[in-house]
Amino acid sequence: CGIVGYVGTQQAPPLLLEGLTRLEHRGYDSAGLALLGSTGIKVEKRAGRVRDLADGLPKRFAGKVGIGHTRWATHGPANDVNAHPHTDAKGLVAVVHNGIIDNAAALRHRLADGGVDLVSDTDTEVLAHLVALSEAPTLEGKVVDALAQVEGTYGLAVVHADFADRLVVARNGSPLLIGVGEKEMYVASDLAAIVRHTTTIAHLADGEIATVTAGGFTTYGGDLRPVARTAETVDVDPAAYEAGEHESFMHKEMLEQPAAAERVLGGRLDERFGTAHLGGLNMDARETRAIRRVKILGCGSAYYVGQMGAALVEELARIPADAEAASEFRYRDPVIEPDTLYVAVSQSGETIDTLLAVQEIRRKGGRVIGLVNVVGSAIARECEGGIYLHAGPEVAVASTKALTNMFLGFALLALQLGRVRDLSIADGRRLINGLSRIPEQIQEILDREDEIAAVAGQLAAADSLFFVGRVRGFPVAREGAQKFKEISYRHAEAYQTSELKHGPLALVSEQVPTVAIVPDDELTDRNVGALHEIAARRGPLVVVTHEGVDLGEVECTRIDVPRNERELDPVLLVVPLQLLAFHAALQLGHDIDKPRNLAKSVTVE
Ligand code: G6P
Repeated sequence: CGIVGYVGTQQAPPLLLEGLTRLEHRGYDSAGLALLGSTGIKVEKRAGRVRDLADGLPKRFAGKVGIGHTRWATHGPANDVNAHPHTDAKGLVAVVHNGIIDNAAALRHRLADGGVDLVSDTDTEVLAHLVALSEAPTLEGKVVDALAQVEGTYGLAVVHADFADRLVVARNGSPLLIGVGEKEMYVASDLAAIVRHTTTIAHLADGEIATVTAGGFTTYGGDLRPVARTAETVDVDPAAYEAGEHESFMHKEMLEQPAAAERVLGGRLDERFGTAHLGGLNMDARETRAIRRVKILGCGSAYYVGQMGAALVEELARIPADAEAASEFRYRDPVIEPDTLYVAVSQSGETIDTLLAVQEIRRKGGRVIGLVNVVGSAIARECEGGIYLHAGPEVAVASTKALTNMFLGFALLALQLGRVRDLSIADGRRLINGLSRIPEQIQEILDREDEIAAVAGQLAAADSLFFVGRVRGFPVAREGAQKFKEISYRHAEAYQTSELKHGPLALVSEQVPTVAIVPDDELTDRNVGALHEIAARRGPLVVVTHEGVDLGEVECTRIDVPRNERELDPVLLVVPLQLLAFHAALQLGHDIDKPRNLAKSVTVE
């Protein structure tokens, strides 16, 4: 979900709508605005996209103080009533909220017993009633009263008709920042919303609240004692948040991969000693040598690239390593080991499932580092050290350049771990040489976009397809299937190639194509054997492989990627799969950047 707010001298609605449009990738099933006008609070909200909200706004919807929200539904379906902002019964208070109120059910009962008429299914509505019911003399006091009754996570913005000069915002576990302008102020859950207007920013910390008026802001702790916070100018290029001439952010971000890859590697490769420099890890050689196991945690694509990362760590550093879905980890009461290095991987640094896993590990005394793209994000702050990915802002829900940089971040980590253990200097140099070639090799694949787009056409016609790979190729297949289903809405299932014959081969037919990952490695012959088994069942085949690999007489469409060191193959094998998913979705006419039911950053459990 996304929050934006404005208080100043301009009309708020266009600024709020623009902000919401820039946050839409974070949730796009409903949107709404609340304005403070001369006659109290006015709310307009509806299911659908921000443009539907904009199209339906009444002509006389004006005001210089307001809040807006774009929603990814949690409690209750996406309909007009459940859209934010939420108000109290008298319409004095309006609230927009990101996060989850865990005790919402109990609070709803209590409010209903007290005669309050709840109109929506949401957890957020209780906040509006609680603020309205507080007898504190100030809006800040009312918000603190309300929050004292609430368990859960929130980023929150509140307006009140009796305090018409201000927004009050609060944060606990869900980001909230204040943007400073000339006689005007902004609030937002993400810099993207306001970057065109100001880059002078103050971040609220968890447990803090703030008053924001046209003239400035004051921050407080939960007890309303002032906490000093100064706004700082952040160094960002607003153009990074624009799709420009591209038809979608996903396309733009795929094409940015060579440059993004240069950035994550930049200054971190040490040719002389065949190692990587990762100053942010905060670990000396003795601590590094003491690591007995590496456990990687992430969600969605970050989980799949975590599997690729685990393979790199095992191969290069010879440390047992595996990846697990962060969303499952803390619920199985995991054993936290002092000599395990835990690695949280996240583009946004906000995914609540990953953040909660990090907190669980730390509570039990484990050491966690982060591979995170967004600097200063919650996961980055919660970790003891880490590797920033420097991919630049990623807007499309389907992750591309961040994923590439995650892989390269893992390669750097594995190299550094390896070089204080058994990895030879020659092998270190070999990998450094390989890593240096990755940006231009990604470019070579991107240059063949038209050819790959033609293959995507064949796949888009199928209702169901398999992605298969083995060992290093299996997480590649998983990520390929993930991308494909996310944006093309085709049923795409990943399997180990070796497991096909143990079950799923029953589904292979002329109607069910398979995309097979067949790198030139120790398993090529076996993989080619599986291709024959698929072809014998008339299954159409697309094979992502290396030039010169002999696929025998198998009838297939092949996509060759450049050769590099075998350990690094996954990052190149995955690029054609991005292009396949992208072009399939494009040909099917889907909204590439905003796939149905999904959101870029899921900040609720
Ligand atoms: C959401 C997105 C996925 C993404 C995952 C992890 O579920 O829809 O595309 O891979 O979150 O996001 P993160 O920001 O933690 O990398």
